[in-house]
Amino acid sequence: MTKRILSCMQPTNRLQLGNYLGALKNWVKLQDEAKDGVSNQCLYGAVDLHAITNGHDPAALANATRETAAAYIAAGVDPSRSYIFAQSHVPQHAQLNWLLSSMTQMGKLERMTQFKDKAGKNAERASLGLFAYPVLMAADILLYKATHVPVGEDQKQHLELTRDIASVFNEKYANGEEYFPLPEPYIMGTATRVMSLRDGTQKMSKSAESDMSRINLTDDADMIAKKFKKAKTDQGNVPASDAEGEGRPEAMNLIGIYAALSDTDMQVVMNEFGGQQFSALKTALSDLAVAKLSPITTRMNELMGDVAEIDAILKAGAEKAQELTQPTLDDVYRMMGFLRG
Ligand code: TRP
Repeated sequence: MTKRILSCMQPTNRLQLGNYLGALKNWVKLQDEAKDGVSNQCLYGAVDLHAITNGHDPAALANATRETAAAYIAAGVDPSRSYIFAQSHVPQHAQLNWLLSSMTQMGKLERMTQFKDKAGKNAERASLGLFAYPVLMAADILLYKATHVPVGEDQKQHLELTRDIASVFNEKYANGEEYFPLPEPYIMGTATRVMSLRDGTQKMSKSAESDMSRINLTDDADMIAKKFKKAKTDQGNVPASDAEGEGRPEAMNLIGIYAALSDTDMQVVMNEFGGQQFSALKTALSDLAVAKLSPITTRMNELMGDVAEIDAILKAGAEKAQELTQPTLDDVYRMMGFLRG
């Protein structure tokens, strides 16, 4: 059976190495993979409606949406085989969101740890949108009847909620039949958790304040070299085994990045660099990162240099997505008992 794979990123700030190694690289792999001649159907969204839930800059949103789509394409997502769309261009997302929000208990949303983290102490002032964010995410997924959703660890709880919402719908409005398939999280074999170059216990993040903590997909070769050179390490040498790397998150992060970029596992990298000084690993790592990332950067810059192409791709993607999703939305309205013309 064809797997229907859906994943999305928020167009906020710049995309960085963690987005590439932790997500995009695997999205492309899923697009290109076929089992017994059956390939996956892949849908990749830039979720701009999600990007406004915690304050945003209206002057930057449109371009951030384009940049996200440009990164997908530059990394190898092929718009003629996979769907690439901006969430706000497919109004069915917002419509299904409303229908689902009416069957989702607030108590379940209150348990979402990401809301607690993002809202912080000021939960009273957090927007309703931030609170309801996981319902919109459920709508993104269910609208396409996605069967598999590649997500990072931090999104697993939201995916659990999506499964829960799907079951509630199936139970209430589909007589217990599986109208919405319960989507499986797709945790990639070697999905790499790329950590900050400044603090190996924190995720590399587009929003962390220090730019030196991350490799942006728009950084040039000199910048990449500089950031790896300055990356935090410890007093020892490069560990040669997991045991030697125990409690040394910065060292293991560099090894993990090297392994992911060269499509191998960490022990192979430790066999090569174990016992050497970090400077040797860092130099090799910058060269590797530049070699792997520069074609992507170049393509992204080209696309962003003439946005007509990106805009046309997003328009075509939205049209295809609407064709795919409108029948589902019609079903849902009908099943819920709405008067339909
Ligand atoms: N919440 C996800 C994140 O911040 C983004 C997202 C929105 C998403 N809708 C989705 C991811 C649907 C997978 C599927 O990373």
